[in-house]
Amino acid sequence: MIFRGSHLILMIFFVHLIFISSQKEETGFIYNGFGQADLSTDGVAKILPEGQLQLTDGSGQKMGHAFLKKPFEFTSPESLSFSTHFVCALVPKPGFIGGHGIAFVLSASMDLTHADATQFLGLFNISTQGSSSSHLVAVELDTALSAEFDDINANHVGIDVNGLISIASTPASYFSEIKGKNESISLLSGAPVQVWVDYGGNVLNVSLAPHKIQKPSQPLLSRSLNLSESFPDRMIYLGFSGATGTLISYQYILGWSFSRNRESLQTLDVTKLPRVPPHKARNERPSTLLIVLLILLAVILFLVLGAAFAYRRRKYAEVREEWEGEYGPHRLSYKTLYKATKGFHKEGLLGKGGFGEVYKGTLPSHGEIAVKRVSHEAEEGMKQFVAEIVSMGTLKHKNMVPLLGYCRRKGELLLVSEYMPNGSLDQYLFYDDKPPFSWRRRLIIIKDIASALSYMHTGAPQVVLHRDIKASNVMLDAEYNGRLGDFGMARFHDHGADPATTAAVGTIGYMAPELVTMGASTATDVYGFGAFLLEVTCGRRPVEPALPEERRSLVKWVCQCWKMASLLGARDPRMRGEISAEEVETVLKIGLICMNAVAELRPSMEEVMQYLNESLKLPDITPNSPGIGSFVPLIMGSYPLPASPTTETLSASLYSSSSANDSTFVTHSIVYGHGREEERSTTKLF
Ligand SMILES: *[C@@H]1O[C@H](CO)[C@@H](O)[C@H](O)[C@H]1NC(C)=O
Ligand SMILES: *[C@@H]1O[C@H](CO)[C@@H](O)[C@H](O)[C@H]1NC(C)=O
Ligand SMILES: *[C@@H]1O[C@H](CO)[C@@H](O)[C@H](O)[C@H]1NC(C)=O
Ligand SMILES: *[C@@H]1O[C@H](CO)[C@@H](O)[C@H](O)[C@H]1NC(C)=O
Ligand SMILES: *[C@@H]1O[C@H](CO)[C@@H](O)[C@H](O)[C@H]1NC(C)=O
Ligand SMILES: *[C@@H]1O[C@H](CO)[C@@H](O)[C@H](O)[C@H]1NC(C)=O
Ligand SMILES: *[C@@H]1O[C@H](CO)[C@@H](O)[C@H](O)[C@H]1NC(C)=O
Repeated sequence: MIFRGSHLILMIFFVHLIFISSQKEETGFIYNGFGQADLSTDGVAKILPEGQLQLTDGSGQKMGHAFLKKPFEFTSPESLSFSTHFVCALVPKPGFIGGHGIAFVLSASMDLTHADATQFLGLFNISTQGSSSSHLVAVELDTALSAEFDDINANHVGIDVNGLISIASTPASYFSEIKGKNESISLLSGAPVQVWVDYGGNVLNVSLAPHKIQKPSQPLLSRSLNLSESFPDRMIYLGFSGATGTLISYQYILGWSFSRNRESLQTLDVTKLPRVPPHKARNERPSTLLIVLLILLAVILFLVLGAAFAYRRRKYAEVREEWEGEYGPHRLSYKTLYKATKGFHKEGLLGKGGFGEVYKGTLPSHGEIAVKRVSHEAEEGMKQFVAEIVSMGTLKHKNMVPLLGYCRRKGELLLVSEYMPNGSLDQYLFYDDKPPFSWRRRLIIIKDIASALSYMHTGAPQVVLHRDIKASNVMLDAEYNGRLGDFGMARFHDHGADPATTAAVGTIGYMAPELVTMGASTATDVYGFGAFLLEVTCGRRPVEPALPEERRSLVKWVCQCWKMASLLGARDPRMRGEISAEEVETVLKIGLICMNAVAELRPSMEEVMQYLNESLKLPDITPNSPGIGSFVPLIMGSYPLPASPTTETLSASLYSSSSANDSTFVTHSIVYGHGREEERSTTKLF
């Protein structure tokens, strides 16, 4: 029996031992980093690879919770005691004020997902705040001052029971044994802070100390509290909560140790804890690098933009003066023209002349256009010229090429007119690539041009001279109607030169003899029109240096034919279709009358119109009448001759200008003087 009894006692002893040892195993834990911890997290809380428990991640208005999955249970109110030690670090987000704070939480429930962030610290919401049914006790490390919860400052420790109005709170500090006084702790310094919470005998103590400093002998907060009242189920979930608002921190728990009694609490070895993730350092380096990169980028951007701007300025540069204001509607920007002609692309080149180049283009507002680029040196007289061409642009006649506008650049003038699809008349007269016109067509064009010129001389608000009438300046529209173009170009070439030398500019063979001495007049235009009549009828230019001498001058040749009683014989042999001999002869005679060497004997354009429609009888003339068929243009007696240029260059200049298919403008002076045959046609004084 005794043996049995002793057996039983032994058994009871062993069972008790096992019970105690299993109890003991459950009394506490230690986490030097949370890599292996059995935690339940919610919100933004998570365990980082290095083992730190991150409660909030630097985003605003967020909270995070982490709870031990297994609750802490106690058997009776008297037996409830514990000790815990944890290390936290609160790192303000760079550029932000840190906040709001963290709390060590004792809660009847793990579910705090309905709580609010910001000053509620992820513990309560507006309806659970202050309610005894919350069953929640917390030790807060509050880094924001919330006046509504009677906070004392933005760096304090408090004990909260079922609400955020702390039952006890004090500024974060510790008693320094070395200095013998309280030292404040900045919770938001980013450095690790040690916290101890001890409960026993209905007293809750809280202590704080910086990293690597031992637990102070006296607690920072000591408050009597019947903790079991808050947990009637005798079951407590232990964990942490962190929250941010507009005040943002990264909030970390680096290590945590817990025990049912103070004596068995395992001390955290601060050297074994994971480090605080380096936010400052990580943000600083890229930021300086970023600033340097940004500055570099800005400089590059600035240079590129500057270069682009300068290029654009150069590319689209114009000359624009104050007086041009009144011609506003006629002033077109170079950019517009540049775009209209696709950058003055070769494909759009319509022709090249003594003036410059003509390009085809398209303007949204006007449709197809022709842009003439005229280079010039002198700015002097430009104002008058622009005034003149703009006033011509306002002339409206169905047989004139409408001038739409102009643009000025340095050394260049751009004239914009309507595009004439069928080119200029000379192409149909002098070259073989286009079929020669019938007499009917030629007569219509002659009448068109007579009508336009008559309008310019008498119909327009003021007398306007054309100054350079010739087949190459007569354009043909889609229906092959004649349109007079290129007004005033001769005038343009006048400008900038010495006034004494500007009298005679035009095209050889079309220039009236008195042009040099008297300057341009309606009579000189009529002379040019006479030359035009002859060239259209005869299909050749007024002067052809390559022909035998007796045929070189057209006007002389026509008179010659007339003298030989075959005026009709002077006509263009290529002329197609029916030819009215009477009409041809009339037109030739009108041409001769218009080209009378004596200006006073020439008819007006109005009279020419009437001759052409036979409402006025032609004056009786013969090839021997005064001034008729004369091609000795000028009497230059008293004008001095220059020492240079030499006669050779002058005659060369004459030759080249008259052989250049008529489109070349005579821009330079040809001196009449030595009676040489090549110089017979035109002259210019120095
Ligand atoms: C507050 O939280 C409780 C549960 O904790 C929830 O039932 C309630 O709806 C929440 N109230 C508000 C206003 O969010
Ligand atoms: C230090 O602070 C504690 C708690 O706030 C206080 O009780 C104590 O008197 C302070 N000691 C000194 C030396 O200021
Ligand atoms: C709390 O601190 C006081 C000293 O202020 C101490 O007497 C008491 O034992 C402490 N209680 C616990 C549970 O640590
Ligand atoms: C603490 O509260 C519990 C439950 O309300 C109660 O049973 C116990 O007596 C209280 N202890 C003290 C010391 O008041
Ligand atoms: C003249 O213009 C019309 C209309 O644009 C066109 O159809 C015709 O082919 C042109 N004629 C010549 C010879 O270019
Ligand atoms: C001839 O032309 C003139 C001038 O344009 C005009 O006044 C006259 O009416 C015309 N006569 C005929 C018969 O067409
Ligand atoms: C003149 O016209 C001929 C064709 O008749 C052409 O071959 C030559 O290139 C032209 N000359 C000029 C300067 O335009």
